[in-house]
Amino acid sequence: MKVLAICGSLRKGSYNRSLLRAAAGAAPAGMEVEIVGIEGIPVFSEDLEKEGMPEAVAALRLKGKAADGILFGCPEYNYGIAGPLKNAVDWLSRAHGEPKTPFVGRPVAMMGASLSMMGTARAQLQLRQTLQACGALTMPTPEVYVMRAQDKFDAEGQLTDKPTHDAVARLMTAFDAWIAKLKG
Ligand SMILES: Cc1cc2nc3c(=O)[nH]c(=O)nc-3n(C[C@H](O)[C@H](O)[C@H](O)COP(=O)(O)O)c2cc1C
Repeated sequence: MKVLAICGSLRKGSYNRSLLRAAAGAAPAGMEVEIVGIEGIPVFSEDLEKEGMPEAVAALRLKGKAADGILFGCPEYNYGIAGPLKNAVDWLSRAHGEPKTPFVGRPVAMMGASLSMMGTARAQLQLRQTLQACGALTMPTPEVYVMRAQDKFDAEGQLTDKPTHDAVARLMTAFDAWIAKLKG
C-alpha cells in the first residue's frame, strides 16, 4: 500500500516534515510512505492554468493519483491553513479535462505540528473542510495535533516525545485500515 505524504511547509527545518518522517517510520508493515514537498508550485490563477499544468503540479498530481492514500503534514499560519499548502490543494483540485482529480474518492489523513498550544487544530479543521469540497475521503479519527513542537523534536528533527510518537503510530495504523476499508 502506497501513501503519499505531502509536507505543507516550505521551511528547511520544518516540524511538519519531521512529523511526516516520524509517521513514515511508524507506518505498519506493508505501507510505503513517500514524503514530498510543494516547492516550485506557482501561485494559482485560472489564467496561468489555461497555459497548461506547471511541471511541479503535474508531478505531484501524478504521485497523488498513483497513491492509495494521501497524508498531509499541515502547518498553521494565522489560525488557518498555511497559504502554500492551500495553494497546492487548489491546483490538485482541478480536473484538467480528466474525470477525476487526485482527491476524488481517495482516502486522506492529516497531522500537524506548531509552536502554539493549539497544535494546528484550526488549520486542520480548515483543511478537512477544503478536502470535503475536493471529494476526498478524509479519515475522521484519530487526530494528531502536535503542540509546542519545539519541545517535541530534537535539533536533528527527530521526534523525541513518546506520547506523540505513539499517537502518530496510532494514526498510521488507523489510516492503513481506513485505506483498506475504502478499497473494499
Ligand atoms: C505567518 C505565520 C503565522 C503563524 N501563525 C501561527 C498560528 O496561527 N498558530 C500556530 O500554532 N503557529 C503559528 N505560526 C508558527 C508556526 O507554528 C511555526 O512557524 C511552525 O514552525 C510552522 O511549521 P513548520 O515548522 O512545518 O514550517 C505562524 C508562523 C508564521 C510564519
